Amino acid sequence: MSGAVLILGATSAIARGSAAAFARRGRALYLAGRDLEELRRDAADLAIRYGVEVRFGAFDAEATEHHATFLERVGAEMGELAGVLVAFGYLGDQGKAAADFAETEAIINRNFVGAVSILNLCAARMEQGGSGFIAGIASVAGDRGRQSNYTYGAAKGAFALYLQGLRNRLFPAGVRVLTVKPGFVDTGMTFGMPGLFLVATPAAVGERIARAAERGRDVLYVPWFWRYIMLIITHIPERIFKRLKL
Ligand SMILES: NC(=O)c1ccc[n+]([C@@H]2O[C@H](COP(=O)([O-])OP(=O)(O)OC[C@H]3O[C@@H](n4cnc5c(N)ncnc54)[C@H](OP(=O)(O)O)[C@@H]3O)[C@@H](O)[C@H]2O)c1
Repeated sequence: MSGAVLILGATSAIARGSAAAFARRGRALYLAGRDLEELRRDAADLAIRYGVEVRFGAFDAEATEHHATFLERVGAEMGELAGVLVAFGYLGDQGKAAADFAETEAIINRNFVGAVSILNLCAARMEQGGSGFIAGIASVAGDRGRQSNYTYGAAKGAFALYLQGLRNRLFPAGVRVLTVKPGFVDTGMTFGMPGLFLVATPAAVGERIARAAERGRDVLYVPWFWRYIMLIITHIPERIFKRLKL
């Protein structure tokens, strides 16, 4: 499968780890995000380090009215895409979200609505091309609602369900859809959070994402043991779970 990989939310730490892993595999890249200066620096670094073509451009997940034009521009610059990675996301503040709907809306729009908007467009393009992969970063937080982050968890859970349906739809067309469910990763999003354990590095997580996407995997818990942690968590009976401080 030839072609470039489009990385959305490319300034995220996990996206950077993934971009390096795709570039190591010889992939051309299109880095998209809100901070053009950061993207310019990253693009130059990746191009020099790995000898691949790297372009970049502005993308805001919440500006859904510009998504079609954005994707046309990427297509004009890079040709057919080999893959797309949705990495943008927003943890937000659950306490604030409970009291202020603007925060709830930001969490839902940045994690779910914006992702669905751009992936609907990517899916239509790739379905016609008949190959490639779509990878979306959801979260283990989407596997069960908890009081500490249930708005984020709901948005990520909805995103995971969307990706599952997309995988089902695109399979006959030869387009693979990967749902990534990271546990705790050492990034700006988790910086300073109390009570984190088994924290993974963005570089290691990025390597696993690139490998799973290139191999056409369906669901990736990363690191792997989160599949079993979540299996236990999702099997705790509700009458006990609702009493826990999680
Ligand atoms: N870190 C973890 O433990 C963990 C666990 C599970 C899942 N995840 C998920 O992994 C993904 C990557 O997160 P990360 O941990 O690498 O965090 P991060 O470094 O804080 O990255 C978050 C990224 O999302 C981008 N973003 C936010 N709103 C956006 C918008 N409206 N349009 C475009 N980009 C936007 C940010 O761009 P700006 O630089 O412009 O703000 C930033 O690049 C996220 O989807 C996150 O939910 C992370």
